[in-house]
Amino acid sequence: MATFMSDTCDRSSPEVDLFKVDFKYYKSRKPPPKYDNCINFTFSTTDNHLVTPFKLLSPKDDLHLKLGLKTPAEWECFKHQQCPGLIFIRNPFLPGYQRYWVKQCLEEFTKKPNKTNLDSVYSSSSDTFNNILGNKELCKKLRWVTLGYQYDWTNKLYYANEYVPFPPDLAELTTYLARKLEFMNFTPEAGIVNFYHMDSTLGGHTDHSEYDMTAPLFSISFGQTAVFLIGGPTKTTKPVAMFVNSGDVIVMSGSARLAYHAVPRIIPARSELMVESFTLPGEGDFADINTTLNADGKDSCLPPKAKVAKTSAEQNSICFKNISSIKSTKTEGTFFPSETIKVGCPQPHEEITKSNQCLISCSSKNITFNIHEEVRKLGTDISWQPFEDFLKTSRINMNVRQVLPEGKTFTNIL
Ligand code: OGA
Ligand code: MN
Repeated sequence: MATFMSDTCDRSSPEVDLFKVDFKYYKSRKPPPKYDNCINFTFSTTDNHLVTPFKLLSPKDDLHLKLGLKTPAEWECFKHQQCPGLIFIRNPFLPGYQRYWVKQCLEEFTKKPNKTNLDSVYSSSSDTFNNILGNKELCKKLRWVTLGYQYDWTNKLYYANEYVPFPPDLAELTTYLARKLEFMNFTPEAGIVNFYHMDSTLGGHTDHSEYDMTAPLFSISFGQTAVFLIGGPTKTTKPVAMFVNSGDVIVMSGSARLAYHAVPRIIPARSELMVESFTLPGEGDFADINTTLNADGKDSCLPPKAKVAKTSAEQNSICFKNISSIKSTKTEGTFFPSETIKVGCPQPHEEITKSNQCLISCSSKNITFNIHEEVRKLGTDISWQPFEDFLKTSRINMNVRQVLPEGKTFTNIL
């Protein structure tokens, strides 16, 4: 029959939920799946004609060192012919530097006022969550944390007045990745950190609650390996399956931005990948990195005058409260230099002025994280051990989105 060839090549079938078929296949314990059709970007992909490796041709800078990343020219990037807009970057992190993000996800991002699934499990006091790692029960139950605009899972919405300043370090990381991939207008505004255990799955879904689908979505994973499925605009498209290992970055842009995707299975990470990800650099390498950093604010890819959205007086006062409580625990002049103490808390898309500076995010000069120092601190067995233990049976995924179209606020999105 003349149509036979095109029928077999067609990845979509109008009636059949091909996404579910593959989801069930990879989720199954009895019998367990075969992984022959799962793309493995850590091996040569040259024999897979659907996968195209590519390199970035971006001008050289030293910003990647500030973020604990390899130089962009070294990043191994891939496209897939059947998923236009999907970009896969194989672990671009420098050895050991993923430790920082694991710590942030478990210790910093889980703090109030961010929401976590534990809020409903333990409705009592927020103090419960100060030491998640020291509490086995909490560790087992932790599933998600929301960042920036706090996602409302029930109504599938973000709200102007449910905003926590987006973490400056994660803003810088994702903005840097975006700029290198030539998404020049991407602004990270909301994030979900997902925590998976060996029996966790994430069902097929699209992320469609954001108001700008032209902005890419960044997904960065740590720890155990996932099988990731990505299909098309409906579940009738047969998905592509790929392994996502520690440090890997997936960018969903173009038509992949609204494609169905899922995590049907977590599998034990290959030990050499965990070694590559979490073995610390030698002392000399730390020193090299530190001498290349400059303190004049140029070591940021965020614009000095970032655009941010208007905030209400009420929100500002909440932010002021949060900031002053942080400030009181730090030594003035080191963590927050005195000239940056005068702060407001504008949201993304509002013009920052001198009298309305955002200490927490947006303005590169005020960004106060030091990944190298933190990684150095995580270099002692005693400080890293609890995170290493957690990761033995867990996967962490940081999923970062832009919510609003450029130049828009919640009041004028439509
Ligand atoms: C999500 C998501 C994918 C992953 O949080 O929306 O799709 O790899 N996560 O965990
Ligand atoms: Mn998703």
